[in-house]
Amino acid sequence: MLSYRHAFHAGNFADVLKHAVLTLTLEYLTRKEKGFTYIDSHSGAGMYQLADAYAQKTGEFKDGIAKIINEQAPEALAPYIELINQLNGHGELDIYPGSPGIAKAFLRRQDSANLFELHPSDHEFLAEFCQRWKKSHIHNSDGYKGVLGLLPPPSRRGLVLIDPPYEIKDDYQKAVKTIVKGYSKFATGTYILWYPVVKRELVEKMTNDFIKSSVKNVLQVEFCMSEDTDEYGMTGTGLFIVNPPWQLKTQLQEMLPYLKDKLGTSDSSFSLTQIIEE
Ligand SMILES: C[S@@+](CC[C@H](N)C(=O)[O-])C[C@H]1O[C@@H](n2cnc3c(N)ncnc32)[C@H](O)[C@@H]1O
Repeated sequence: MLSYRHAFHAGNFADVLKHAVLTLTLEYLTRKEKGFTYIDSHSGAGMYQLADAYAQKTGEFKDGIAKIINEQAPEALAPYIELINQLNGHGELDIYPGSPGIAKAFLRRQDSANLFELHPSDHEFLAEFCQRWKKSHIHNSDGYKGVLGLLPPPSRRGLVLIDPPYEIKDDYQKAVKTIVKGYSKFATGTYILWYPVVKRELVEKMTNDFIKSSVKNVLQVEFCMSEDTDEYGMTGTGLFIVNPPWQLKTQLQEMLPYLKDKLGTSDSSFSLTQIIEE
């Protein structure tokens, strides 16, 4: 089943948190001269036009990136907002980068990217988007298997983003399992796992699966627009970050109240927890 298209959701509140963290992590990795490998298990199309029928149909970006693009944001959000501004020209918001678009902006000649995307159309868009990006490798195959086949990277420096659509319940466990297995091959890598808050017990199971595993140094961040509910629909967004950059926790402490203020309501909330110590 491949009905999910990220074009409907590009730039929404979940993308804001995920992509702000991705940006900070990539920026951190580029502080050292030595190259690194970026692996994106579920890449999407790479770049999105916000005027197209998909983004306009849901208008989700209007409650996400559009609310902060022209605001005086805290320093922790600056690299992310600056990137969106650079891509669009200040004051405009026509295009929005997916995770490969963000990685492309940060990766240098010494860095390489492996991008997995199963959907045939999004894979085609992605391949086209990356055409002139010499150190990118685009795969039309399963990202969970793909990640494990590439670890450890030759450079022994790497960032793995796992960002499934959660169309199938299996994704919740499969995503954690992939990181646990990946960590056993490459314990010094950084891993970012995105999840939606749709059913609280599914998130709790992921947290517990991490706690029971051999993985160390895991930070969990969550931003919920509204309270948990038994009704269908995403009320919040979260990330597990394994081996986060050392300043990320402080940067998130600065960013989260701002996001609640700008994107949320009085029902919104956030949390930041080191679920497993180093
Ligand atoms: C949430 S979107 C990715 C968004 C992207 N990471 C970003 O931040 O811009 C999930 C993508 O995973 C793709 N997909 C679903 N199952 C997959 C799998 N097993 N391996 C690789 N891609 C998959 C979907 O087609 C969809 O484009």
